[in-house]
This record gives sequence, C-alpha cells and structure tokens, in this order.
Amino acid sequence: MSRDRYPHEDPVVVTCGLPYANGDLHIGHLRSLVSADILNRAFGLIGQPSIAVSGSDMHGAPVALNAEQEGVSPGEFAHGWHDRFQELFPEFGIEFDNYGHTDDETNTALTTDIVERLIEADHVYEREIEIAWDAIEEQALPDRYVEGTCPYCGADARGDECDEGCGRHLEPGEIQDPVSAVTGNPAEYRTREHKFFRVSAFADVLTAFLDDLEGTANARNQPRQWIEEGLQDWCITRDLDWGIPYPGDENLVLYVWVDAPIEYISSTIQYAERVGHDPIDWTAPWSGDGDIVHVIGRDIIQHHTVFWPAMLDAAGYALPRAVCAHGFITIDGEGLSTSRNRAIWAQEYLDEGFETDPLRYYLTTTGGLQQDIDFSWEKFADRVNGELVGTLGNFLYRSLLFAHRNYGGTPDAKVSAEVADRIDEAVADFEEAVNEYNVRAIGMTAVELSRFGNEYIQRNEPWRLVDDEPEAAAGVIRDCVQLAKAIALLGSATMPDVSARVWWELGESTDLTEASLDAVHEPPASSFGAPTEQFEQLEDELVGDLTASLTAQIEASVDEGSDERVAFSTFDSLDLRIGEIRSAEPVEEADNLLVLDVDIGDEVRQIVAGLRGHYAVEELPGTRVVVLTNLEPKTVFGVESDGMVLAAGDDPDLLTTLGNSEPGAAVR
Ligand code: 2FM
Ligand code: ZN
Repeated sequence: MSRDRYPHEDPVVVTCGLPYANGDLHIGHLRSLVSADILNRAFGLIGQPSIAVSGSDMHGAPVALNAEQEGVSPGEFAHGWHDRFQELFPEFGIEFDNYGHTDDETNTALTTDIVERLIEADHVYEREIEIAWDAIEEQALPDRYVEGTCPYCGADARGDECDEGCGRHLEPGEIQDPVSAVTGNPAEYRTREHKFFRVSAFADVLTAFLDDLEGTANARNQPRQWIEEGLQDWCITRDLDWGIPYPGDENLVLYVWVDAPIEYISSTIQYAERVGHDPIDWTAPWSGDGDIVHVIGRDIIQHHTVFWPAMLDAAGYALPRAVCAHGFITIDGEGLSTSRNRAIWAQEYLDEGFETDPLRYYLTTTGGLQQDIDFSWEKFADRVNGELVGTLGNFLYRSLLFAHRNYGGTPDAKVSAEVADRIDEAVADFEEAVNEYNVRAIGMTAVELSRFGNEYIQRNEPWRLVDDEPEAAAGVIRDCVQLAKAIALLGSATMPDVSARVWWELGESTDLTEASLDAVHEPPASSFGAPTEQFEQLEDELVGDLTASLTAQIEASVDEGSDERVAFSTFDSLDLRIGEIRSAEPVEEADNLLVLDVDIGDEVRQIVAGLRGHYAVEELPGTRVVVLTNLEPKTVFGVESDGMVLAAGDDPDLLTTLGNSEPGAAVR
C-alpha cells in the first residue's frame, strides 16, 4: 500500500460493494455504485491510474430464498439479475473496468485457494453450534431463512443481521424466538458442526490496520469499538446447497460473506488478464504495490473492516488503504424498504424519461458521504432547479450563447489572471477532495465554479461592453469560455453525460473520458455552434404528480399486505379506541371529505374522514366507530384532523361494534 498523496504512480483499485443478484436496484444501491464510479473517474482526472471493479453477489440465503419463492434455480435466478444490472449501469453512467460475479470460475477457484490457505495456517477450527431448524420441513434455516429477535437490542431481526435495529452481524444460533421465513413454522435449535475463522487472533493486526485506514471516520471508529468489546470468531460455513463448497466437506458451503469480497480480487484478476500486466500490473495493489479503495454502505462496515482484512492478512494479501462507508437514504424521513415498496427504483426513474446526471448529483452531493440523506421529489426538484438549471446550466448557456453569437466561438483574447487563478483554485479543491475521498466536494467544484462564473459575467456585463469596448467584452467572454471548459472537466466525474455534451459543444474533438484536469487551461476551439440548455426545469405540477404516485406506490404495497410481521410492541403502540360520532359536516371544496366530531371518552376529537358520498351526514351521529387516536394531527383542506376513523375497503365501510362498548374503550 502506498501512503503517497494521489496522484502517484502505483495503480489504485476502486471497488463497489457487490449488489445481491436478487432484485431490482433502487436509489440506495445507486448511491454506492455512483459514488465508486465518481471516485474512479475523479482519480483519472487528476492523473491517478485507477480502475473500478465489482460484481454481482450471487450466493447466500437471500438469493436462494428468493429463487425458491419464484420456483427457479438460484443460478438461473441470480444470472437473470446479473444480466439486468449490466444493462442498467451504462444508463446511469456507471462504468466498471470489470464487472464479474461471485459464482464464476475465477472467484470459485480463488475463494477455494484462500480458504485452503486459512486452513493450512491453522486459522480455521471446527465447533458445534446451535442452528435454527424447521422440524416440520426437516430443513436447516441458515441466515435469511430464519427471523426472530435480535439478542442485542430486541428489534426484529432477519437471519444474519439486525437490519431494523442495532445493525449488528448475527452469528448462527444468536437470533431469539426463531421462526422459519419460508413456512412461518416456529424453529428449534439443533446442534451441528461448523467451521470458524479465528478472527479473535487478529485484534492487533486490525488495530494497526484501523490506525492507518483512510476513508470515512465511521469505518475506523465502529470497528475500534468492536475490537475493544472483544472480537468473536466467525462462522464461515452454512447448511445450504447454493454456494461455493467448503474445501474438504461437501455437505457445507462457504458463508456468502467469505466469497463476496474475494470477488473484488477476482474481478481485478479478470481485468488484468484481459488487458495484460504491462505497463501496469493491475493486480499489484493486492500484494501491496498500489492502493485498494472500498466504497460500501454503512451497514457492511464490520464485514469490510474486521472479517475481510483479517482474511486478507491471513491469506497473505495486502490490506485496503481506504474504506468509504456512505450513509443510508431515507424517503421523506423514513428508511427505504424493498418489501414495502418504499423506494425509488432505478428502472422507474428511467421510465419517467429523466436524465441520470441530476440523480447522480443529488445522491452524491446532498450530504457528506457518511451522512444519511433524504429523498423527496420536492427536494430533488429544488436542487435540480436551483443548482443545476439556475446556476450551472444558466452559466454555461448564457456564456456560450454569447460567445457563439458574437464571436462564432472562443474570442481571440487572453484569459485574465483572476479567472486563471480561480480555475487553479477549483482544481486544487478537486484534488484535495479526491485525497479526502470527499465525493460531495468532488461534485460541488463544478457548481461552485459556475456560481463564480455567473457572478463574474454579471459583474463585468459584457453585453454593455460589446459595442463600445469590444476588446474588454471579448476578454470577459474569453474568460467565460475557459470557465465553461474547466466546468466540463471538473463536472465530468459526477455528471459525465452533461459534461460530455458541453465538451463536444465547445468544439473539442477528443474523448472527455480520456482527458485530465491538465486541460483546464488549454484554449477551447476558436469556433463552435450554438449551445443547448443542459438541464430541464422540474415544474411544480410534475413534482406534485411524482409525489402523489410515490405515496400511492407505498400505500398500495401496504394495502396488498406484505409478508413482513410486526412485533406485538408495534401493534401495542397504536392507541385504538371506541368513539361515538357526535356530528358530521361536509368539508368545503373537498368532494369526498366529512369533518366529524367524535367522542373518544375523555375528549371530543375533530377528525376528517373520506366518507362523503358513502354515508349521509344525518345518519352518522350516534354511530360507534374505531378510532386511531395517537396518529399525528394534520391539516386537510385547511381543516385540522386529529385522529383517524377506521373503515374497510375502497368503498369505505365503517368499523363499528357488535356489543355496547362505551366511547373510550380500548380496542385490542
Ligand atoms: O450487503 C450486500 O448487499 C452485499 N451483497 C455486499 C457484498 S460487498 C462485498 F463484500 F462483497
Ligand atoms: Zn440489534
């Protein structure tokens, strides 16, 4: 590993966490994929030799389970998604130098070799453990096949991770109150022999590794705490048919988290085999001559900063230089959920006909890499309309149009010292951002430079100078054209499509992806045509429609009823009570709403309900209904609604009581 500042001569391998080949990609996956792509492109721009590699994660219980539910073999199922991912990446400007998968020959052979090395070095031992078991189906329940309660925080947990609670990796046998995820049968624990990797022996190696580790602070700090708490050895085998066989015991396969990160090396090898080892040996970073930079989500820090480096060290490989762990994405403040269809799906975004650069920009510049960020169509539109249309697009269009109309291209003048210095400053900011793996700052340099450009053109008013002081006007526009070229170069890591168009419109004939930031001061072509507007304004009406259809998408999936169970405590948190309707009035300007006064025992609540047209206002008073009383109040058509009256179906059928429950009685 090199500790030299970037750019240096040794190769850098940028990796992106492997997406599971078991379903559609959404904006959460895109944050990883695009951040890795941006880092790789940014390395290239500053002259750092680098490649980006990744692959599809094909093994493991999630894939086997989903394939089983679809009635196809896991291989067929995973290959289908793998092919789909490869079609999708170019649409989002995500370019891998190699994109493999964990079930290919390279990875199977390398994984077997690495595990054999661990065994030979006596880092693996056998231990009897308790395995969740479906006694009715006579089936072991590894990982995702079992659901239950996290022993650390009490949250609902699935298989090998506490994904809704403390986020910890869970070892087999740890999950409490286990239930089969396939049949719903309560599971029992049975004793089985499994293989363990002696991670606990690597505490010193890992401490030294973390002391040097670059990337985001969360990737250094969380594992330090785990090491202090005492490292547990790691179960590396599973009772599954799908996976890479454990060398020496064909009844067991390797845990998916063994062969998944090894794909980072396999994918590098495949690339090196394709392009040759001369003049650059791209596999060299894995033996210490170069750097490895991992981009991952923050939920898999433990795998990349504990298990993986321990495995690399044990098998004689170099350790990564940086782990960049990005935060999660929420939608309107709530976490993404595939099962609840609470996501912006990559394909659906494309189907709207949107360009992908604005989404790349939003996902990577809305907060620092480590931060969680929120997505809503309103927030997205605010940034697209403000920063991309209003600042960046506006500067490029107004200055290049002026240049084209008045000079047919780049005016014959010298770039001012002020502008040359400002461009140098932007390049320095960009290089610093790359050295800090600051993906947000990488994306912001182009926008900041356009902000300067707008201020510069406004301050110098070339439109007033063009007749009386033509030389001064030409000087200002010459500056602006140079700024536009610098913006295209600096913006190309984050927004490759837009930048390539501007590059081409500036009359450049070379491929922008081959260019480096050294070109920022090179004069643009003396003649070029009329520019186009690079970004489209997102109008309020469209944003409203998109917001409404996202809400409907989420609600529809809740209505369909998901497979997910809620804890009793979740149900218990709902304050459901009997209420008696005292009065009902139509809400003005709302065809379907009534405003009700409902006696819930100790108070009378005003509640807006979608009952108009289904019940006559005069028949409702005196009706006893079920009321959700601890719902957040909201204002509907200017009327405050404090609670919800429950009804069944689309043609609302009010829930009422058979007996004589009084207002205020708790519903259980
Ligand atoms: O969490 C996941 O989606 C895994 N498929 C990531 C694997 S990354 C690596 F280690 F291979
Ligand atoms: Zn937990």
